[in-house]
Amino acid sequence: MARVLITRRLPFPALERLQAAGHELEVWPGELPPPPDELRALAANADAVLCLLTDRIDEALLDAAPGLRAIAVLAVGTDNVDLDACRRRGIPVGNTPGVLTEATADLAFALLLAAARRLPEAAAAIPNEEWRTWEPARWLGAEVHGATLGIVGFGRIGQAVARRATGFGMRIVSTKDTELPELLATADFVSLHVPLTPDTRHLIDTGALARMKPTAILVNTSRGPVVDQDALAQALHDNEIAGAALDVTDPEPLPAGDPLLSAPNLLVVPHIGSATTATRSRMADLAVDNLLAALAGEPMPHAAA
Ligand code: GLV
Repeated sequence: MARVLITRRLPFPALERLQAAGHELEVWPGELPPPPDELRALAANADAVLCLLTDRIDEALLDAAPGLRAIAVLAVGTDNVDLDACRRRGIPVGNTPGVLTEATADLAFALLLAAARRLPEAAAAIPNEEWRTWEPARWLGAEVHGATLGIVGFGRIGQAVARRATGFGMRIVSTKDTELPELLATADFVSLHVPLTPDTRHLIDTGALARMKPTAILVNTSRGPVVDQDALAQALHDNEIAGAALDVTDPEPLPAGDPLLSAPNLLVVPHIGSATTATRSRMADLAVDNLLAALAGEPMPHAAA
């Protein structure tokens, strides 16, 4: 029997398999992430942790949890985990690849369409009683059909976005075969699908934004820090690009009064890329598969690189 710390209440059937295997679950009851000192205290006696992308698993946490034998992240991105430190200690880390690809690509495409066709503004016009008549030159957006989509990061999710774009009659360029500066200069929409690493932090900075067309729209469903947010706010204020649609920000949540929120032509949603009932349930399945395997002394089926 192992003690498994679960850092949030998860209403998914997968958790029952941990109990059925005889493991003891300790669930953080809060709706918000445990503060770091609480997390360290909770992890002190844990054999395994099932954590969210909002929980920082760093050296200090690992030092405080000497019995830890497995970490499962309920996400595909593992930038919240110090993977090197886990490797040094021989603690396997698992993630949830594959099962959220289509849901995340759907959201990227929803953001692209919403920003292109100015859905937030158009929808807000109705409760604001601004819909007076059919207006020939109001709420004019960008054409998606025939436009060029630049996909930065052509992994599973990037490719899934490309499949959708093909159906919409878009031309696709990606960093698989096009250098980033050229992609940025050519694309009408730029969609980000890279993991957050030291190399991709602020990949989209002032220089990158300056290369984009003034009519282009940036979509980010990867990780907030891939974009230099101050540079993005400036570019939107200066109309250097036509808009941005973000599922991820830096930090999350964005504090009220963050300068980005006063930028024009901006749509932000609260990190919901994988948020469908079926996808989140599958993510829990994979996280539990990872923990059960590691606690049985076997390799995790979905080990993070
Ligand atoms: C969500 O952002 C994930 O990495 O799964």
